[in-house]
Amino acid sequence: MRFRFRVFVVGFYRIETYRMERDMEPLEIAPGVYDVGVTDWNIRDFHGYSTDLGTTYNSFLIVDQKIALLDTVKKAFADQLLDNISAIVDPKKIDYVISNHTELDHSGGLARVMHRVGEDKPLICSKMGHKNLPRHFFRNWNYQPVETGQELSLGKKTLSFLETRMVHWPDSMFTYLKEDKILFSSDGFGQHFAGPERFDDQIGEAIMVHAKKYFANILLLYVPLIKKYLKNIIDSGMEFNMICPDHGVIWRKDPAKIINAYAKWCEQIPEKKAVVIYDTMWQSTEKMAEAIAAGINKEGVPTKPLHLRKWHRSEVMTEVFDAKAVVVGGPTLNNGLFPSLADFLLLHERAQTAEQNRCRFRVLWMERRGGQDHYQRTRIDEI
Ligand code: FEO
Repeated sequence: MRFRFRVFVVGFYRIETYRMERDMEPLEIAPGVYDVGVTDWNIRDFHGYSTDLGTTYNSFLIVDQKIALLDTVKKAFADQLLDNISAIVDPKKIDYVISNHTELDHSGGLARVMHRVGEDKPLICSKMGHKNLPRHFFRNWNYQPVETGQELSLGKKTLSFLETRMVHWPDSMFTYLKEDKILFSSDGFGQHFAGPERFDDQIGEAIMVHAKKYFANILLLYVPLIKKYLKNIIDSGMEFNMICPDHGVIWRKDPAKIINAYAKWCEQIPEKKAVVIYDTMWQSTEKMAEAIAAGINKEGVPTKPLHLRKWHRSEVMTEVFDAKAVVVGGPTLNNGLFPSLADFLLLHERAQTAEQNRCRFRVLWMERRGGQDHYQRTRIDEI
């Protein structure tokens, strides 16, 4: 009993220490470049995406002859962001606020930040950002929209801007710190991950699970554009010492790893695996689903049956993402689709890319009495 109590105290102390490090101590990631973001330890649902470990809203402060802040955080964390900044410089000394992305997990704190930094300070964003931000904030801020290739000198350090529309909103852009070879990539290369670790090498391969889930659920639809941006980046000969997304850890050990992973995921080449997605009322459909999964497994194709009310939709989408065969089935309710299936099918259809439709073999079945069955597209025995 005594031993267990000691373990608890040590564990608690370590957690509190880590939290202090992340929440109250900005981290200098390169000379004059600070991670001043915050950790949202307790978020579990990010507008329908399961964030079982929480997430981070990353924000970066670059201190040179001029000082720039890249992105803010969710509104509820704005004071924490300002505390982190204040540990480095008085927020009033910030010369430029840069908005790489206007979605409110990165701009929600903007009003509070601009109030402290100075309402007249330049607010740099893309052209689409200039359209979006005034719709969120009814302030007459000093907007300075930029285009791809435009540069901003901070003194010894130079920022270069790259518009990346739909990664993941029309306003999205990346900012590249040329001298330090650091890419601030907004939602791109992000992961919904919260932990004491701030860098990829502190986690290892396990971080790729979170990066893949993020790609499968948030960026999949925009694969054609992502391919284009990746090509532009590679063709430009841009080098990276670090890639700093707005969520999760910073890629510093091998930034090429996440770029290569994106290139591979964009190709949409499915793995030799299948998923059987179902819901069930009285376990009849469950028996069918498990029998189908067992049958496919027996043929040497790894297959999982996924119960839609046991598996979160974003985990299901991650499994579907690289599956060669997707089997979907469910009971009827009120002579129509079972609600969890309707939820999944809508999400799935909306996220489909041309590559997925070409590569995938999909079986959709639904027993329905009367009326046309829209979802019975392929006979099961064809698999
Ligand atoms: Fe992390 Fe599209 O916002």
